[in-house]
Amino acid sequence: MRIVSGIQPTGNLHLGNYLGAIRNWVRMQDEYSAKGGQCLYFLADLHAISMPHTPSELGAATREMVAALVSCGIDPDKSILFNQAQVPAHAELQWLLNGTARMGWLNRMTQWKDKAGKNREGASVALFTYPVLQAADVLLYQATHVPVGEDQKQHLELARDIAQKFNNDFCAEDAPLFTLPEPIIPPEAARIMSLRDGSAKMSKSDPSDMSRINLTDDADAIMQKVKKAKTDPEPLPATVEGLAGRPEANNLVGIYAAMAGVTPASVLTDFEGKGFGQFKPALGELLVEKLSPMAARYRELRQDRESLDAILAKGAFKARDLAAPTLARTYEALGLVRG
Ligand code: TRP
Repeated sequence: MRIVSGIQPTGNLHLGNYLGAIRNWVRMQDEYSAKGGQCLYFLADLHAISMPHTPSELGAATREMVAALVSCGIDPDKSILFNQAQVPAHAELQWLLNGTARMGWLNRMTQWKDKAGKNREGASVALFTYPVLQAADVLLYQATHVPVGEDQKQHLELARDIAQKFNNDFCAEDAPLFTLPEPIIPPEAARIMSLRDGSAKMSKSDPSDMSRINLTDDADAIMQKVKKAKTDPEPLPATVEGLAGRPEANNLVGIYAAMAGVTPASVLTDFEGKGFGQFKPALGELLVEKLSPMAARYRELRQDRESLDAILAKGAFKARDLAAPTLARTYEALGLVRG
């Protein structure tokens, strides 16, 4: 089994990032590396330039993301952790696959439609071909499984389509070049919402810092934010159905469940009939207990640029090695002469 996944580098990491993607990566690393599988995790910094960005912030965000991943449990000795920009094979393979990807396929991508909006003429070409780079990311390593959120499923299907068409067009039937990757969508792909508005995703760009729990927050800040979180006046219901129409209550119960590693139903069994005056301190303490060790490592590591760069350099070295054979075979299959 070979697991490959990427994440766009953002700064100001928060609970939503942790429960949404990072924690799942750590679990897969621990589960699959013990069974002889291999996990490659990378910062999708090449994808980041598909939208307007600030160069000085991209570098800082890339290093911060590495610090967060390592602090939360990604072990650079167990997983291969790197950034795309140090492995030119990603960009090379993208170009080679651009000959196989069809305009019509890319035109149907919902992320493209959402991000380009009404202004397609003004969108970058990189935004349009973003899914081809994503296909290259996974096909380059012959990934068998790709953990992603629900919103990336369509991109994964495109990667399979590209792989299949390439294999068909350029390979002998008994010697396909690319492995068709399977998406893995974590069952509880936790959608963590803002603490101020249960209908908006927890986000680093929310102007109110009270809306999110940052991975850098100390115990006091966490307790404060949970105490001030928006709720309703009702006590907690006995069943999950009782949370319908109560987005804030639903979110806090969901966070508790995700952090405790139990189902929302079992949280409600414990807290049925209790008000937020009782539930919030329990949630705050749980968050402090689970997040504090990671937060402490994160605050320290994010200052240590030398170590972060060394981690990335080592990961890129291994990734380049793994990528080389597939890239060479792709050039060859296309009839490109390389001496
Ligand atoms: N597009 C993904 C996201 O926004 C990030 C990503 C880039 C990715 N390349 C990938 C995810 C390859 C999985 C595999 O979440």
